[in-house]
Amino acid sequence: MLFRKMPASEVAVSTSGGRVPAHVAIIMDGNGRWAERRHLPRIAGHHAGSETVREIVRACVRKNIGVLTLFAFSSENWRRPEREVSLLLDLLLSSLRREVDELRRNGVRLRFIGDRSIFAATLRESMGEAERLTEPNTGLLLIIALNYGGRWDIAQAMRTIAREVQSGALSASKIDEQTIDDHLSLSGVPEPDLFIRTGGEQRISNFLLWNLAYTELYFTDVLWPDFNEQAFETALASFACRQRRFGRTGDQLEQVQGA
Ligand code: FPP
Repeated sequence: MLFRKMPASEVAVSTSGGRVPAHVAIIMDGNGRWAERRHLPRIAGHHAGSETVREIVRACVRKNIGVLTLFAFSSENWRRPEREVSLLLDLLLSSLRREVDELRRNGVRLRFIGDRSIFAATLRESMGEAERLTEPNTGLLLIIALNYGGRWDIAQAMRTIAREVQSGALSASKIDEQTIDDHLSLSGVPEPDLFIRTGGEQRISNFLLWNLAYTELYFTDVLWPDFNEQAFETALASFACRQRRFGRTGDQLEQVQGA
């Protein structure tokens, strides 16, 4: 197993006393509108959005957040105008090349999830290289979802499980939730504690469908390029106030916490 499996509720305590999520997952929405409001091409919004990525990654390092998963390009984003897709992928490639040294210096481990088979060889190689170079790091695990879809993830897990059953390595009667969990892209990574979507829409949009089962959801109208550290703090403060019951009653939780 690549990563230590932790319960979703394993959280550090921030300097201000609140609970800090171990894993934050973000849908970075609103780049296009941010640019359109300024009469700029949509790609200018993605460039501004990549600056926000830097700011939020730095904030996660400072706050000792264990995992940050960012939805950078969904399986559905291919439906965008060809030019926007190509500029967005170029931006991802250049950001990757520019940032990898800083990530290394800051102890960040980079990992990509999603179907990378469709990408150009140059992008695939840069992704693999960035993963290799940052592998030894033990700080923040930064997961970038690229050509990722929650349904794709479940389907690819099912294909692998079916092959294991076919080969006799696994018995169909032994398949349980853990088996499925172990074959998903986030296998071995704690489930997200906090999901943030910027840009005003209140949807999961085929992000981590299986893994978000017990995640606290936070939606904000702030557009991604405007989502700064202060806006992130507001999301973390909202998380710190929530009671996570995981199916138990409030009374039961108080008993456990008081014990
Ligand atoms: C959604 O905004 C955003 C995306 C599809 C791309 C996110 C990509 C970045 C922030 C670029 C850099 C990423 C990394 C990891 C370096 P939208 O275009 O759907 O905005 P809209 O809803 O206003 O049109």
